[in-house]
Amino acid sequence: MTILSNPLPIMSFDTVTTVSRSSSPIILAVESSCDETAAAISKNGELISNIVATQAVHENYGGVVPELASRAHQQNIVPVVHQALQEANITKTMLSAVAYTQGPGLLGALLVGSSFIKSLAWGLQIPLISVNHMQAHILAHFINQPVPSFPFLCLTVSGGHTQLVVVRDYLEMEIIGETKDDAVGEAFDKIAKLLGLPYPGGPHLDRLAQQGDPHRFSFPTTSVPGLDFSFSGIKTAVLYFLREQVRQNEQFVEQNLADLCASVQHTLVSMLLEKVTQAAEQTSTREIAIAGGVSANSGLRSQLQTIAGEKQWQVFVPKLAYCTDNAAMIAMTAHYQYLAGQFDSLGASPNPRLRFGSSN
Ligand code: KG4
Ligand code: ZN
Repeated sequence: MTILSNPLPIMSFDTVTTVSRSSSPIILAVESSCDETAAAISKNGELISNIVATQAVHENYGGVVPELASRAHQQNIVPVVHQALQEANITKTMLSAVAYTQGPGLLGALLVGSSFIKSLAWGLQIPLISVNHMQAHILAHFINQPVPSFPFLCLTVSGGHTQLVVVRDYLEMEIIGETKDDAVGEAFDKIAKLLGLPYPGGPHLDRLAQQGDPHRFSFPTTSVPGLDFSFSGIKTAVLYFLREQVRQNEQFVEQNLADLCASVQHTLVSMLLEKVTQAAEQTSTREIAIAGGVSANSGLRSQLQTIAGEKQWQVFVPKLAYCTDNAAMIAMTAHYQYLAGQFDSLGASPNPRLRFGSSN
């Protein structure tokens, strides 16, 4: 098992210097891994401001365009950070450390946040903290009460990842299962696109699913051994099913949209929860959390509650604002890294494929 640990040097490209640590640290964190430019400030682990600017430009293209994302981050980052400082009533000189999302994410997008924050660290001569975005999604559970107790199991579901993680401590996590191909958020978005819904399709599909019959249509799913997932098969199955139906009736999608959304959602959520159940049994865990953008899904939340009732699990679901990308979760993770003395050098670079502990 590999445990995430960041290197310790700070304030220098190649040398280690010591930091005098505040007992009540004030941390500014930025998030720029994909299409949200966000900044947040925490004071001794309490969130005191949280600003998110969502990039609407991608809606016109049916998906995130990396180059446009980088440009929008460049435009947004200064006003977003300024607003976060203003709302927290904090001046830059009061900061104990600055933090940024190191990865995973889009390289150009990550570069904007990392360069900006590294310049601040250099200018203010304060420590720099590099944060793993997926680990931060999980630690979003510590922004508000009630918080899970260690160890717990977390299903992390986003646009780029689907992972089952055993969380042993704030910074000690092990991935015990993950997708072999598409992420579940990607499956939601791609199927929503086939159904003619705007990008990102997940929330639109969710909204329509609430008026439909989840058992009206069934789709073949790919079975993967162990605790891993596969979502590319269902996307193709829905594509062929729709092609055949539309050949017979051009209005098929419009006439059955809510039932199609409900059936797709039910299938995707069942695939997720089958592995969560298996993982809970295998690890003898009764505290189950969900995190990441897809944890906002109403079907996932309600099907999870139903199983939790049967299995006597205690379930932890983040507030909607902390499901999708935000900097509050980066600030929270940075706070624990600060306490653990996990600082980084100014030579640290973004890593689009950054990973933390894995059993594979
Ligand atoms: O965590 P996130 O904001 O960004 C990544 O790190 O990828 O997750 C974005 C993903 C998108 O695929 C989006 O469609 C999905 O989360 N999503 C949802 C819902 N809200 C966001 N999927 C299904 N139902 C939702 N309500
Ligand atoms: Zn995310």
